[in-house]
Parts: sequence; structure tokens; C-alpha cells
Amino acid sequence: MGAAAPGRFITLEGGEGAGKSTLARHLKDRVEALGLRVTLTREPGGSPKAEAIREVILSGQVKRHGPFVEALMFSAARIDHIDRLIRPALERGDWVICDRFIDSTRAYQGALGRIEAGLLAELEAVTIDGLMPDLTLILDLDPTIGLARAARRRAPDEATDRFEGEALAFHSTLRQAYLAIAASEPSRCVVLDAAQPPAVLAQAAWSAIRERLPSPQAA
Ligand code: TMP
Repeated sequence: MGAAAPGRFITLEGGEGAGKSTLARHLKDRVEALGLRVTLTREPGGSPKAEAIREVILSGQVKRHGPFVEALMFSAARIDHIDRLIRPALERGDWVICDRFIDSTRAYQGALGRIEAGLLAELEAVTIDGLMPDLTLILDLDPTIGLARAARRRAPDEATDRFEGEALAFHSTLRQAYLAIAASEPSRCVVLDAAQPPAVLAQAAWSAIRERLPSPQAA
């Protein structure tokens, strides 16, 4: 475990309503148009066990146990997701596009939950066992816009989930946490302006992929 795999691993990160899922679907189509195989997935989730953990966390039941227990549960889901889906896909040469990954834990549980950085780094290392993304696209957006978008896509009778329901200050801190991650790992992370129209954002994301992850087919 932990060895480099032949596929490419791209993660999408950002606050609520930034447009990650739409962008992920678009990028899947573009990579497939090059004749490459794509596994599109998300966190928390992506495997049956991880999807079950997702339901429990997003229902808010774990919140009372504090951010470290939430981090442990996101990590448990991630271990299963990596073992069952991500690593096998990369090993057979797929490009894996994942909506959220380690930076969500760093930002939501680490920066916002104030878990000690060294402890969270140890948990991350055990969880991913060397599987770092090749490229992380961070969708940066004013949280007032993102929360309004997230509210529009909710059904009228649907409640906010565990994290959407947090105050604006939480989401502003989250935005800064993502920008800090990007600044600390510039070779892995690219920040994209998610306030742009979806087509412009998609083109910027595609340019970043072509530049950072050249492949024979994409040349
Ligand atoms: P989403 O799939 O709608 O983005 O919902 C996932 C929520 O879970 C989102 O609010 C971010 C949060 N989250 C964490 O707090 N930590 C994590 O490690 C992950 C993957 C997600």
C-alpha cells in the first residue's frame, strides 16, 4: 500500500454551494472524451460503508461528541472508500475525480473544529497511507453566495445538513482555511474563482488539469 498508482487522482474542494459536483461531472466528460476511464466519486461516501457513515454524520448525530469524533468518522469512511474504490480504480489506470477529500477534514474539523494540527496530521497519514491527490482544485467563493446557492437547491421541506446550518462566520473561516491550505501546498493545489459562470469555471479547471497533469492523450 502507499505506492504510486498509474491513474490520476484529482480532488475538488471548497465551501457549500461552490459548484463542485457540477464541475466534477463536467470534468469526467472531458477526461472521458480523451479516451480515458474515469471514476467519479465523493466524500464522505463512495462505498456502501462510507455512504452509511455519511448519513450518520450529516444527520448531525455525531456533532455532540465534538470535532475529533467527527474527524474519526470521516476518516473511517475514507479508509473504506480508498480501499474499496479509489485505490483499485487508480491501480487499473482510471482517473479518479473525488468531490471532497483530506482538505475537507483539515478545513472543517482541523481549522474550524480546532483539532491540534499534529494530531490531525497523524490521523490523516494513517488514513490515506500515502495516497495524496495529484491535483486539488479549490473552488473559492464568497460564502454568502455559496449558502444562497445551497439553499436554492434544497427542497422546500428539506432541513440544512450538519454543516450548512452553521453561521456565516463559520463559512468565512472555512474559506480562509482553504486558502491557507492552497498557499501551503502550491504544487498540489490550484485556487479557482467559483463566482465565475459555470462554463468559465470549467474551462479554468480544465486548463489547470492540462497544465499540471499532462498526459499523452491530452497533449
Ligand atoms: P457535501 O457532500 O454536500 O459537500 O456534504 C459533505 C459535508 O461534510 C460538507 O458540509 C463538508 C463536510 N465534511 C467534513 O466536515 N469533513 C470531511 O472530511 C468531509 C469529506 C466532508
